Amino acid sequence: MSDTGQLGAELDGLEREALEAVAQAADGAQLEQARVAYLGKKGSLTRVLRAMGGVSAEERPVLGQRVNEIKTALADAIELRGTGLKGEARAARLAGPQFDVTLPGYGQPSGHVHPISRTLAEITEIFVSYGFSVAEGPEIEDDYHNFEALNIPADHPARDMQDTFFIDGSDTGRDDLVLRTHTSPVQIRVMETTEPPLRIIAPGCVYRHDDDVTHSPMFHQVEGFMVDRGITFGHLKGMLTAFLRRIFDRELPVRFRPSFFPFTEPSAEADIGCVLCDSTGLQKGATCRICKGTGWLEILGAGMVDPAVFAHVGYDPEEYTGFAFGLGVERIAMLKYGIGDIRLFYGGDLRFLSQF
Ligand code: DAH
Repeated sequence: MSDTGQLGAELDGLEREALEAVAQAADGAQLEQARVAYLGKKGSLTRVLRAMGGVSAEERPVLGQRVNEIKTALADAIELRGTGLKGEARAARLAGPQFDVTLPGYGQPSGHVHPISRTLAEITEIFVSYGFSVAEGPEIEDDYHNFEALNIPADHPARDMQDTFFIDGSDTGRDDLVLRTHTSPVQIRVMETTEPPLRIIAPGCVYRHDDDVTHSPMFHQVEGFMVDRGITFGHLKGMLTAFLRRIFDRELPVRFRPSFFPFTEPSAEADIGCVLCDSTGLQKGATCRICKGTGWLEILGAGMVDPAVFAHVGYDPEEYTGFAFGLGVERIAMLKYGIGDIRLFYGGDLRFLSQF
């Protein structure tokens, strides 16, 4: 057999074998293996081409053309098989187990109302049901509204009770600005612009230089006041007793003790029966740690609006009387939910917050 004959037969065999390998390739990797094995630099066809050195000059082009034919045929077959394999893979993917589009999604956990906001909302709801409206005032207050008009003059010792954050107003030319120490200035702001009868609550943030487990430099108060002809201390007692029983959701004992506030006369502090020990003063045989064994908890300040305050807003104290009160929202929330540390409200710790 001539070289051409022998090489030609070898080429025929190689072609069959290569086309078979391509047809048998079960995936992209096997197809690539076949390509490298026959068309690659060290592949079978390249080896045959090298062997052509010994072929006569007439036979060489014939064989060369044959090799090129095989190369083209093989390249075409590989491309075709590649397309086929991709289609098969896709079909298999579609036919195989698919993800279940009816499964519920992961969803976004929704947030919820902060315990302080919730307590504030409950307090507001109760007073709104008594016919009160909600008013707001500025958190940066002036000395006049925070102190002076509330009958707390500059040298009054009551200013000591409210360690104050003064605002440096040098850029605005004002030296009388403070972060309000209580919500009572809203009384003045409302009465300056409105005539009685009034039934108002004023919730909001207040600020004091105070920081421990039960005091925070920023906390929330609700101020309330009612002004009309013939308002008496009896109205104050009735309204606040009803409110305290509703916010704590039980028939608590409530008592009023004489006290002093510059803007009310007479003034009182209201106590509720201790919610932890049920007014017994004892908890598991030991002194109740919340009421210190007294059975009572101080819960708010109140009183009849002082005529000096009415004078500042131009109300006639002979015609009108009114009561006012102020309560701390954190204190109510802490007692309601049994929270021992006020700082938990502001820490943003979800382990705490998600319990409400
Ligand atoms: N403003 C007082 C405080 O922050 C609370 C208060 C007491 C408000 C008696 C009142 C009141 O309206 O009548 O300590």
